[in-house]
Amino acid sequence: MDITQPLSDDLKRDVIAHQDRWGVTVYRATGLDDEGQIRFARNFGHLESLPPKDGQPRQFLFNAGNLDKNGEINWSENAITYRRGDMIFHTDSSFMDQRTSYSMLRAVEVPASGGPTEFADARSAYDDLPQDMKERIEHLECEHSLWWSRAQGGAEITREGIEERHRPVHRLVHVHAGTGRKTIYAGAHCYRVVGWTWEESRALIDYLNAHVTQEKYVISIDYAVGDMVIWDNLCTFHRGAGFDWSQRRDMRRATVREAPAPSQGDDPFADLLANAPEILPRTSALERLPNGSQL
Ligand SMILES: [Fe+2]
Repeated sequence: MDITQPLSDDLKRDVIAHQDRWGVTVYRATGLDDEGQIRFARNFGHLESLPPKDGQPRQFLFNAGNLDKNGEINWSENAITYRRGDMIFHTDSSFMDQRTSYSMLRAVEVPASGGPTEFADARSAYDDLPQDMKERIEHLECEHSLWWSRAQGGAEITREGIEERHRPVHRLVHVHAGTGRKTIYAGAHCYRVVGWTWEESRALIDYLNAHVTQEKYVISIDYAVGDMVIWDNLCTFHRGAGFDWSQRRDMRRATVREAPAPSQGDDPFADLLANAPEILPRTSALERLPNGSQL
């Protein structure tokens, strides 16, 4: 289908049906530009956005590549460390109160090799859990934090720093609305189980994250310029795989919320960013990147 054109209701239903069935869909050589990507994404719900800054308007596309705002490769250690957190399996924006359904990631520039995204099928992984584990986790809720996944990626953030900030709570097991299948909602932002000790929480969350991301549930998708991949964060995990940081990678993501548009005010990212800790690399990220090695 030509997704640069307005979608008919039939085509929109087709997109959703394929999305529900597969969790991840790939659109090659879309011909989309920024405006087209945003317009297409708006067919499926309310978009996440970054608040206006430095005289720039509100941003509806998130930078998921390695370029800075001037379009140059970003060699800031903080930026590299930040991006490392995306290379651990996660679900986008589980650290927000409103969950995200679809992420739509479009390749504008790609490295000569590398830089795929890996996706894990959390519904099949849930199906395969032992029955006693299903019963144990059925009613649990978990706290999520962006800063926890950044800490795992090598950023200098303490547990105190995480715990003094807002941590949205989401069900660990939920019913995927489009299919009625149960699925696991965890990943790298998933911090602890509500009401459980830290040790018990981490043992369970680490077990589930490892379970979902076993090779048998994972596919890897490569990008060429113009491709766009859509994934459903409510039934898949994903991570960025390695690439040579010295090569340009320009990836732009539109992100659709599960919930309908709020009736008034909508700036949850302003709060998140206003309360962000200063992110410093634990050890030099650049030292770990000698001679353009793989990130
Ligand atoms: Fe992501």
